[in-house]
Formats: sequence, C-alpha cells, structure tokens
Amino acid sequence: MVRIETSVAVVTGAASGMGEAMAREFAVRGANVVAVDVDEAGVTRVADDIVAGGGDAIGVYGDVADETCVGEVVEAARDEYGTIDVLCNNAGVFDGDQSLEELSRERWFDVLGVNLDGPFLLTKAALPALLAGDDEGVVINTASVAGRSGGGGGPAYTASKHGLVGFTKALANKHGPEIRANAICPGFVATGMTDDMLDELADLAAETPAGRYAEAEEIGEIAAFLASDEASFIHGAALAVDGGILSGM
Ligand SMILES: NC(=O)c1ccc[n+]([C@@H]2O[C@H](COP(=O)([O-])OP(=O)(O)OC[C@H]3O[C@@H](n4cnc5c(N)ncnc54)[C@H](O)[C@@H]3O)[C@@H](O)[C@H]2O)c1
Repeated sequence: MVRIETSVAVVTGAASGMGEAMAREFAVRGANVVAVDVDEAGVTRVADDIVAGGGDAIGVYGDVADETCVGEVVEAARDEYGTIDVLCNNAGVFDGDQSLEELSRERWFDVLGVNLDGPFLLTKAALPALLAGDDEGVVINTASVAGRSGGGGGPAYTASKHGLVGFTKALANKHGPEIRANAICPGFVATGMTDDMLDELADLAAETPAGRYAEAEEIGEIAAFLASDEASFIHGAALAVDGGILSGM
C-alpha cells in the first residue's frame, strides 16, 4: 500500500481549482508534490506557497497533450524525488457546452487531446515509476458527471470524460493490484473553470440534492482519500462526488 505521507504525488492542472487543492492537500498530508500545469507562473506560485508552509513541492511546466513535455514531467519528478507513487490526471478543458453544429473538428481534437490523450500519455510515461518498488501505484483521474451522463457538457467534453472513465476501468482491470486506478466524477465545483458563471452555477446547484456547489478543497480531500490506505479496496471506480446529481439520472 502507498503511504501518502511518504509518497511522491504528481498532480496535473495544479495551478488552479481542484488540481491546486489536490496539490495542497497531498502536501499537508506529507507527500512530495510535483505540481504540473501549462500555467507556469501559477504552478510555481502554488509550489512556492507549499514550500513556504513547510511542505515539499516543485512546480513544473507541462502540457499534458504534448508527448515530449509529458516525458519531461516524468523525468523532473524522478530527478527531484526518485519515483512516482501517485498520479492525479486532473488537467482538463471544457468545450463550452458547444452543440455538434458549433463544434469544429479542431476544437474536438483540442478537448480530447487534453482530457483524454493527456491522461493516456502521462500514465504511460509514468507507468515504470508507478510499477517500481513494492507499493502499489495509485492513479486518480478527474472525470466528471459528464463521464457518466450525457447532460454535463457538449459532445467533445462528454466523450472525453466517458473515455477517461473507460481508461480508468481498463487500467484498474489490466494492472491491478500493482496499480490502483480510480476516477472522481465531480458535479458543480467552484474553480477557475467556473469562475465567470458562479451565479449560474449556484442556480443549477440549488436544484441538486445537496442544494449547493462544492469548493475545490472538497475534491482535494477526496483525491487524498482515494490515495490513502483507507481506500485500498477501491479499484476502477467512477466515484460520483456530485451533490447527488447522478442520483436522478
Ligand atoms: N469545475 C467543475 O465544475 C468541474 C466539474 C467536473 C469536472 N471538472 C474537471 O476537473 C478538472 C479540473 O478542472 P477545474 O474545474 O479545477 O478547472 P481549472 O480551470 O480551475 O483548472 C484546470 C487547470 O488545468 C490546466 N490545464 C489546461 N490545459 C492543460 C494542459 N494541456 N496541460 C496541463 N495543464 C492544463 C489549466 O491551466 C488550469 O490550471 C478538469 O479535468 C475538469 O474537466 C470540473
């Protein structure tokens, strides 16, 4: 089992929102954190902040859709901390809920590139490190309620998140028990992605069983739980952390 307090955790999309919350939560629990993002200034700020608070982290520029870049991220993690125990494939982009008529082929590829190719490329590159040693490697993928229903985004986003849930299950199925892979399926969460629509988010969330949207920190805690010993029997789940949205679908 991975001991989170001695683990090396790579978190993508760590300059903002849920990724930032995951990076901070892992660091609070004692992990060495590799915070990755295309927003280099943002991810440096997060890592510096963690270090200033007594934690251990480095900020690394990385575009998860770029295979070369992804290789450099894995190298940076191994150079700094020797291995990778936990990988949070969290970076993602929304498709703007564009209809099929509006959606260009370029946009389709862009969304799939970040949300689905990204986790594939990084997990593949990190696999030798995740499999090294006696402890299981942990992979946590941030999917969405759009990975379990058709109503959470446009076609590109929905396809990417369904794909990510499928990828997670295949990973758990083919690589367990050496790899323990799970997906988190958040509902409405206040993050950089939803910053400019908080009022709309509050109205939508009011209709859900929880009656509210979540803060990013709540998802950070779920990721830390999924990486912990307490979650050691959870393999291949697409865990809804959605205030009950999917209960009505
Ligand atoms: N906010 C929500 O309501 C919600 C709900 C369900 C799922 N999600 C998913 O949660 C994840 C985190 O999103 P968030 O809401 O925290 O949004 P966010 O915009 O606050 O954070 C996303 C981060 O990913 C980074 N990023 C984008 N493209 C990248 C790339 N190619 N390589 C590396 N980093 C990249 C961005 O710079 C940003 O820092 C995403 O996968 C998103 O699809 C969000």
